[in-house]
Amino acid sequence: MDVSKKVAGIAPSLTLEITAKAKKMKAEGISVIGFGAGEPDFNTPDYIIESAKKALDIGFTKYTPASGMAELKKAVCEKFYKDNGLEYSENQIVISTGAKSSLYHAICAITEEGDEAIIPSPFWLTYPELVKLAGGKCVFVKTKPENGYKITAEELKAAITDKTKYLILNSPNNPTGAVYSEKEIKELARVIEDKGIWVISDEIYEKLIYTGEKQYSIAKCSEYLKEHTIIINGMSKTYSMTGWRIGYLAAPIKVAKAISSMQSHTTSNACSISQYASVAALTDPRGEKFIKEMLNVFDERRKLMISLLSEISGISFNEPQGAFYVFVNVSSLYGKTFNGQVIDGSLSFADNALKKGVALIPGIAFGDDDSIRLSYAISAQDIAEGLKRLSEFIKELK
Ligand SMILES: Cc1ncc(COP(=O)(O)O)c(C=O)c1O
Repeated sequence: MDVSKKVAGIAPSLTLEITAKAKKMKAEGISVIGFGAGEPDFNTPDYIIESAKKALDIGFTKYTPASGMAELKKAVCEKFYKDNGLEYSENQIVISTGAKSSLYHAICAITEEGDEAIIPSPFWLTYPELVKLAGGKCVFVKTKPENGYKITAEELKAAITDKTKYLILNSPNNPTGAVYSEKEIKELARVIEDKGIWVISDEIYEKLIYTGEKQYSIAKCSEYLKEHTIIINGMSKTYSMTGWRIGYLAAPIKVAKAISSMQSHTTSNACSISQYASVAALTDPRGEKFIKEMLNVFDERRKLMISLLSEISGISFNEPQGAFYVFVNVSSLYGKTFNGQVIDGSLSFADNALKKGVALIPGIAFGDDDSIRLSYAISAQDIAEGLKRLSEFIKELK
């Protein structure tokens, strides 16, 4: 039996591949510092864990509505109002088994066969695969480091054709750490409204912004934008709950209804216990305190990364403003050799760096072969040791 063309075309996750290699080396007793982490390295706060225990104790262990329990939808509506100044009703919210699942359902819900999706690159590696799965065509727009790796209104305008259905916007951004300002969001919104397209706005890192600015959601720009934006968010990064698998989206009623129906056949409801605990996560005042503390720790590490990376010659990078990644351009080192092996791209850079005990993600996974991604969701001690190894590795290149 052959695998269908649609599924055979899906690229395996390079991120997972490198992580698996690093894990294997660690198991063999080799010291490896992993800069690959895609999740906060904090425990889920106790009050959330207690709430999950309570869910078990009271027997909240059965199916919930496929689109999520009412109390959680209410808490999500309140979050949108409080944090983003957006008013949604509960029938516009769909709770899912993680933001990735929300993205998949959102993309399926608005993509017709052959529709074009504009994806600014570098991009989070899952977007193109989901667009392809839904029968859409990816149109990549290469963003420039000098523009902070952000798509400009002019670039967006130039990429729109009569087949364009939507833009996938991700701010704060994985992998670049870029954050779009309110002004930049409004400029993009004008083009989107003029051209009559949709936006899928992935705001999963909204609480991890280091500039003091608050997230400005594109859905806030106008009535048109509110009616043509699907906001994706979730519990994973904000409350360090990656394993609990709770995501959510907000969409116009018609779209939310279609996504609920689809989800009722693909996954049914997200885990009842995780949903119950997510209500506590969102509504208990201890949440704000946890987020603030986490943000401070990440900011310290971000500064450490910036300071140590600045001392390494032959590389360049933009200071990240959000999320927990630094995207580092290493292309000036291409053509050099390590132990006789030519470094000819981000994959061979990552492969050879691993031999020096440092695991990082090749930029090619995010559509940019000139760069590598370093996560700072690891301890300050590991950051210091890992960047020392990276620096030594680069010095050894001939
Ligand atoms: C940009 C972006 N969107 C969505 C997700 C998915 O998050 P979740 O754990 O909720 O599926 C991730 C996870 O790494 C991400 O980086």
